[in-house]
Amino acid sequence: MPVSCYDKRLNNCEFPPKSNLDPAEYGDHTSKISADVLNLDGCTIDEALASGRLFILDYHDTFIPFLRMRRINETSAKAYATRTILFLKENGTLKPVAIELSLPHPDGDKSGFVSKVILPADEGVESTIWLLAKAYVVVNDSCYHQLMSHWLNTHAVIEPLVIATNRQLSVVHPINKLLAPHYRDTMNINALARDSLINANGIIERSFLPSKYAVEMSSAVFKLCRMILSRGNRVIIRSKASKQSIRHVSNNSI
Ligand SMILES: [Fe+2]
Repeated sequence: MPVSCYDKRLNNCEFPPKSNLDPAEYGDHTSKISADVLNLDGCTIDEALASGRLFILDYHDTFIPFLRMRRINETSAKAYATRTILFLKENGTLKPVAIELSLPHPDGDKSGFVSKVILPADEGVESTIWLLAKAYVVVNDSCYHQLMSHWLNTHAVIEPLVIATNRQLSVVHPINKLLAPHYRDTMNINALARDSLINANGIIERSFLPSKYAVEMSSAVFKLCRMILSRGNRVIIRSKASKQSIRHVSNNSI
């Protein structure tokens, strides 16, 4: 199902997609996907944008800072940061039309990034490359889902609310009564997760791409969420007013 552009990605709601990474630290991270290579079933890029039929699954900003020197790609794991452009077809399904595989620039962080744009193919070596590109996207997506969408955006963010409710509201307060069923077992399962799932050298670190950087990456995304939330209504209003935008399908909503 189409998902509206997330407020925190407002700056990306243009084509080519832009980055929220600090240019002073990371250089220019504007996507190198060009509109003329996209197969949009006869639509122009402007028509697709105007009708809200372009979507992006964007993990570029989350992964690039962790692919730098002495980071993920210095371990036994190797990865790209991915951006995937998808087009909403007439039959209501989404088809991927381009995948950008990115790495930090070898000349240094401030030099931006290097990338390859992979296009769909059914035959020959290109079809295998397309499959591999999709595999890199799936790895980004599954790691983001577990560490950010699941752990961070469900388990971790609710914990301070549980603590504040228990500290500040009487057990007979109607709001406490209302919230209590939703808090059931949250603290227990979070404690178990810290013991054996997200702990140092735990299950997540031993089996997921970010390895020992897993929780650090989750923390970095949380900081970004706080920054966006603090901008509040101004961003939301601008987002609703935006007529031409790529719409985001990434599962990084907050
Ligand atoms: Fe869970």
